[in-house]
Amino acid sequence: MTEGDGIRLERLTMLPDRGAALAGLEEIFFASTTRTAFASAAERAAFLATWTGWFVAEAPRDVWIAMADDGQVVGYLTGCKDSAGSVELARRIPKYEVFADRFAAYPAHFHVNVRPGWREHGLGRRLIDRFAGDCRAEGLPGVHLVTAVFARNVGFYQRAGFTDACQRGPLLFLGRHLDT
Ligand SMILES: CC(C)(COP(=O)(O)OP(=O)(O)OC[C@H]1O[C@@H](n2cnc3c(N)ncnc32)[C@H](O)[C@@H]1OP(=O)(O)O)[C@@H](O)C(=O)NCCC(=O)NCCS
Repeated sequence: MTEGDGIRLERLTMLPDRGAALAGLEEIFFASTTRTAFASAAERAAFLATWTGWFVAEAPRDVWIAMADDGQVVGYLTGCKDSAGSVELARRIPKYEVFADRFAAYPAHFHVNVRPGWREHGLGRRLIDRFAGDCRAEGLPGVHLVTAVFARNVGFYQRAGFTDACQRGPLLFLGRHLDT
């Protein structure tokens, strides 16, 4: 799959039907998270809000939606360009502060998920490169993500240029410089 294969990447703010885009994002979020059991619908909604709510409400320009020709949402990225300054986000996300000393070198961070069935077609890489390009254009020196030490996605991120690794407990920080 290449740029011409009918998948387009759009900022959430550019989509006419934001509700449909967010419904697709929610489906992919729950298809991708390792947590599957929830005591109630309210607890499930709160879990979604913890991980995506700040991005959608406060940084919708940095929410990238990958959309197929037929309008199906097939992947998304939620980005934050100022990890140190996003106090409300830090309040919501568990363990946010663990790598705070690295935020100066890598101010931006993101979460990315691709719909099952659409993985390994280059979409995750495209979403990341789009957000990273945006950050570079704004002069940011680096972008990072936090994953689990033993997560399957570690090799994927390293091959995508996130080579500055730092392990603390079960968490792995991976940073990519944007100056080259
Ligand atoms: C991790 C994740 C976001 C990666 O997205 P993806 O779209 O599958 O990633 P890509 O297709 O860009 O890259 C994956 C592999 O497919 C390969 N690939 C890319 N285009 C391809 C194509 N046209 N045909 C076959 N393989 C291809 C890439 O080379 C890459 O292989 P590599 O890791 O050995 O370099 C996605 O798999 C996912 O949502 N996983 C579950 C949730 C998750 O882990 N999210 C991240 C939380 S931190």
